[in-house]
Amino acid sequence: MKVILLGTAAGGGFPQWNCWCPTCRTARLDPSMAHPRTQSSVAVSANGSNWFLLNASPDVRTQLGRLPHPTGPAARHVPIDGIVFTDAELDHTLGLVLLREAGRLTVWATDAVVRTMEHESRVLAVTRAFADVPAVPLPPGHAVALTLRDGTSSGLTVEAFEVAGHPPRFDSGATPSGHTVGLLLRDAGGACCAYVPGCGAFDEPLAERLAIASLVLFDGTFWSSDELVSRGFSTRDAHAMGHLPIGGTGGSLARLAQLPGTAVYTHINNTNPILLENSAERAAVEQAGMVVGRDGMEFTL
Ligand code: MLT
Ligand code: MN
Ligand code: ZN
Repeated sequence: MKVILLGTAAGGGFPQWNCWCPTCRTARLDPSMAHPRTQSSVAVSANGSNWFLLNASPDVRTQLGRLPHPTGPAARHVPIDGIVFTDAELDHTLGLVLLREAGRLTVWATDAVVRTMEHESRVLAVTRAFADVPAVPLPPGHAVALTLRDGTSSGLTVEAFEVAGHPPRFDSGATPSGHTVGLLLRDAGGACCAYVPGCGAFDEPLAERLAIASLVLFDGTFWSSDELVSRGFSTRDAHAMGHLPIGGTGGSLARLAQLPGTAVYTHINNTNPILLENSAERAAVEQAGMVVGRDGMEFTL
């Protein structure tokens, strides 16, 4: 299985357009010390030529340029066979509308996520005015085959699992379950990658699931719970936003360090000090044997 980190920033990207916090400032003035990042998304493939997106970010147009170019003479080429969604947040779904020229694009998501995309944000409904967009249900706990555009097997399955989180802020009618999931991608040879870009708590069932994966791409939104509140950027702390911080007692760093696989942080918010190449927080992540994700990183499992 091949995995490409197409984008590793949280919503707003890095630097965020309206932000001059210390990390955003560094990303603009000295990008070698804080590399700019696009909004979080991943591409996975069993064979290196057929790809699936995990979430569709507003930066999808740029991100798809990282995938292999077509070799045939055809004038039109859709470089992905479908999109799997972990939630219906805007930073994970707006890219679907931007791919409306595809003609046909299959999406995989839980019923709760499909409902939000259909009726609340309407990104599915709007895209359907331009393209055929079948939605395949992703019931948590069941491995579902990812099929190619021609209907044949891709060699990959995806299994969703519920994680702690909050439904999107614009969706007041969200069901209590299914709005936020992690994904386990598996190939026929037994390789397994976990993708969990949003996660509000780390319990034993989660640890057991992630232990199966040799590569764990995990929620790196915030270093500390009060990161936005202390800067006056928000009144909601990390827990209120459904993101478990990396640092501190009970943070994800201590838990991920106990897993057998490689853990990579992604969906990193622009305020997070791990974005600074020379920060103490970056050093702490690396000393624990973990990786701070960066756009373009590739893994072969
Ligand atoms: C999140 O990750 O919690 C959301 O994407 C926040 C947002 O609305 O940008
Ligand atoms: Mn987000
Ligand atoms: Zn910032």
